[in-house]
Order: sequence, then structure tokens, then C-alpha cells
Amino acid sequence: MKGKVVLAYSGGLDTSVCIPILKENYDFETVITVVVDVGQAEEEIVKAEEKAELIGDKNYTIDAKAEFVQDYLFPLIKANGNYEGYVLGTAIARPLIAKKVLEIAINEGAVALAHGCTGKGNDQLRFEAVFRSSDLEVLAPMRDMNLTREWEIEYAREHGIPVTVTKEKPWSIDENIWSRSIEGGQLEDPGFIPPEEIFEWTQSPENGPESEIIEIGFEGGVPVSLNDTRMDGVSLITELNRIGGIHGVGRTDMIEDRVLGLKARENYEHPAATILLTAHRDLERLVLTRAELSFKSNVDDKWSELAYMGLLDEPLFNDLNAFIDATQVRVKGAVKLRLYKGSVMVVARSSPFALYSKDLVSFDESSIDQQDAEGVAKYHGFQGRLYQKVTKK
Ligand code: ARG
Repeated sequence: MKGKVVLAYSGGLDTSVCIPILKENYDFETVITVVVDVGQAEEEIVKAEEKAELIGDKNYTIDAKAEFVQDYLFPLIKANGNYEGYVLGTAIARPLIAKKVLEIAINEGAVALAHGCTGKGNDQLRFEAVFRSSDLEVLAPMRDMNLTREWEIEYAREHGIPVTVTKEKPWSIDENIWSRSIEGGQLEDPGFIPPEEIFEWTQSPENGPESEIIEIGFEGGVPVSLNDTRMDGVSLITELNRIGGIHGVGRTDMIEDRVLGLKARENYEHPAATILLTAHRDLERLVLTRAELSFKSNVDDKWSELAYMGLLDEPLFNDLNAFIDATQVRVKGAVKLRLYKGSVMVVARSSPFALYSKDLVSFDESSIDQQDAEGVAKYHGFQGRLYQKVTKK
């Protein structure tokens, strides 16, 4: 028999069947489970703890919410984190979860680490990018054994593991404070319209109430207040998820290119992420120069791609963060947004660092001599005009 294995545990079907499998098929004496709280529903954590108690040997629950927001989501906001339209919820949490699991494994003197990811998705890569920084053995029972959901359900029943997925509700959910993803079942048909029941954070946009205007304050590129009340990141995001959810804000239904190249149909809900990313991008447009904005958009894309792949230890990731941080010093101010039946619209913004001069741009005022522009207009496009002339002959 082998000693201790530490399993990244969510309480879901996959990671739950991993517990007996690690004992029966991999011959471990002790399975230690680690539930990392990154803002998933509290009852999910309680359920996970109860299941761990029932079928595992020892469980740790780590509250990583504040660290997740401060060290992962705030950089994401500064980078306008977005991969093909996905706000990167699951992606950005995996490295932190993996780090916590690894820390416990080292303290416990475990010989192996395990996760419940399949061989088809991104999460195996994100976990292992961190796990493999140690010398511990890395195990992925789902991937090794090529398991199907049906087999897992049967196996769970035989082993007295409570199962909540059914044929009618086969959804595979991943949740943290930034987003909730729903996959599986009929959703795997990109032509299938998702039923309302898959959504838990957002009500249907058409049932949203009268429009509402909220104001987000930013300092150093990160949100610090809501409607003039200063709030810590966790409270602010939680509150925005609630308010945005009422208005049906932040649903995404998309085709996503996984790292392995597979295209997947994904459904997400993420009210706070949509509101904060919309507000942040707008404020940047007010305070950064055209050159900064255009260059930063490439940096943001690269940042998002590395975050999607879970490659946060890649030195380029740090380099990009250094550039981004330098640009964010001036991203200070307030943005007002109107929430209405699924939409978020910026309706006002202000900043002490605004690179905006009403005086210069106004239709009504004239501190600028318009005739100065004539010389510029004469040169503008002259190469193109010459090109047209010499090639048309
Ligand atoms: N497609 C998203 C991603 O790769 C969400 C994955 C959800 N993961 C899960 N195990 N259910 O980040």
C-alpha cells in the first residue's frame, strides 16, 4: 500500500468517485481532500465537506476568497481579462487551487497529488502546471481510466456516494466568485437553446426590473467602491453579482477554443465580471493615450491567453503584469453604468487623470484656431493619392 494522496476536491461527481478509486485502484492508504473556497456557493462547500467526511479520510477547507480577489482577479481586471469573450473564471482560479493543494500535500508528507479532470479539457493542464513543480506523483484517475458519466454514477451508487446529477439535470458546474460555468448534457449540442434552469446567478433578462444606475469607483485600476461606499474586493464582487443578477446581466453562450484545440460550447454567468470589465475598459479610454491603449490591447490579449492556459509561472506573465501595473496608476475615477434587462451601458465617467479637454473638443467653445488644421488636412493621405495617380495610368 502507498501512503497519502491529496486530492483537489469539489464535492462533485468526478472528484467524489476519485476517492474510492484512489484507494481501490491506486492502492493508497489515505485520501486527503482539499476544498478550496474561491467563492463558490456556501452550500456547495458544506455538501463537499459532508461527502468528504462520509467517504474520505481527512478534509481541509481553505478560505482563499480574499487572496483570489486580490492576487488573481484584480490583475485580471487591470488586464481586461478576456479569452475569446470568456471572462476566465475557472481558468484564473485553478492555479490558486492547485497551489493550496500542493501546500497541504507537503505539510502532510503526502507522496502524490490527484485531480478529477478529464483528458479533454483545460483544467488538467492548469492543475498540472502547478502540481508538477513538485516531485510528487501526479494522478488523474478520470483521464487514466477514460471514465464516462454513466459509469461514474453507477460506481458512486455502489460506493454509497450521494449523487445529485440526473439524466434530466446532467449539468457539470464550476463556480467561483467571478463566474459560474454550465456544461454537459444537451448543452453539448451547439444548436440546443439552453433552458432557463441552468442559470442560478442571473434571472432571465426579459424579467429584469426598471433600469438602475450604479457607480463604481476605481483606484490603481481596481474597483474600490460602489455608489460611494468603499468596499473590499470580495464584498464588492459579491454585491455586484447580486445586483447584476437581478437585471439578468452577464450571460455568455459561446464556442470556445480549448488549449488542446477542441472547440467546446460553453455557458457562463458572471454579472460582476461583466460590470467591472465594462467599467474598467471605459475608464482606461478616458485616461490612457491612444498609443497606450493600442499597445495595451495586445498585452491584454497575451495576458488572457496565458491565464487561460494556466501558465502564471511563465516569466512573460510577470513581465506583462509589470507593464500593465505601470499603466494603471492613472486608472482612477468613477464610472456610472445603467443596468437594464441584460445590458450594461456606461452612461458617465470622470477622472482626475482624464486626458480630455472639453475646451479643445467642444462645438461651442473656440480656444483653438480651426484653421491650424488645414495644413494637416493637406498632408493627410497624400501617399494614397499619389499611389492612385501613378497606378491608374
Ligand atoms: N471552459 C472553461 C475553462 O476552460 C470552463 C471549464 C469548466 N470546468 C469544469 N471542470 N467544469 O476555463
